[in-house]
Amino acid sequence: MKRVIIGLMIAGTALVAKPYTQADRIADMNKIAESMNIIQSGFFYNNYDTVEAGVDQLTTTIANVKPIQKEAQEQDIMEKFMDEKYQMTNKIVKKISTKSLTILQRFKAGDSAEAVQAYTKIMGQCMKCHREIRHW
Ligand code: HEC
Repeated sequence: MKRVIIGLMIAGTALVAKPYTQADRIADMNKIAESMNIIQSGFFYNNYDTVEAGVDQLTTTIANVKPIQKEAQEQDIMEKFMDEKYQMTNKIVKKISTKSLTILQRFKAGDSAEAVQAYTKIMGQCMKCHREIRHW
């Protein structure tokens, strides 16, 4: 009986999972912008722990980023457009995660030029999404 109740509770939690809102995304954006600053100061102070802390924060936060609930509800009207938006977001989010790990590996190996190059590529991905989703 106990197990059934726990099972129901878990199922319940999954069903009422909080939607990803615009406020959530803005909070995540501020957090990843801060992560980029942390990584950058790790470069300048030549401090691996700082770079690692920034990369950790960036990879855990970017993993949450997706089209927000309001956009997801527009799916009926512009399904094709939304599919593209999801695909693009997933692709960019993945690229940012991979490049963050490159930063860590290259920086650890003493190759700061390559680490900075990966950092610049991440910035390019940030701006790509802003351009295409936000038209900034
Ligand atoms: C998947 C698309 C996407 C990616 C990738 C992305 N952004 Fe954003 N960003 C947005 C959107 C959409 C907004 C607008 C948020 C809103 O107002 O709803 C935004 C807004 C922001 C803002 C302004 C937040 C505010 O307080 O208004 C900052 C800062 C930001 N992004 C930084 C970054 C950085 C740094 C990166 C890369 C590490 C990045 N973003 C990558 C989509 C993205």
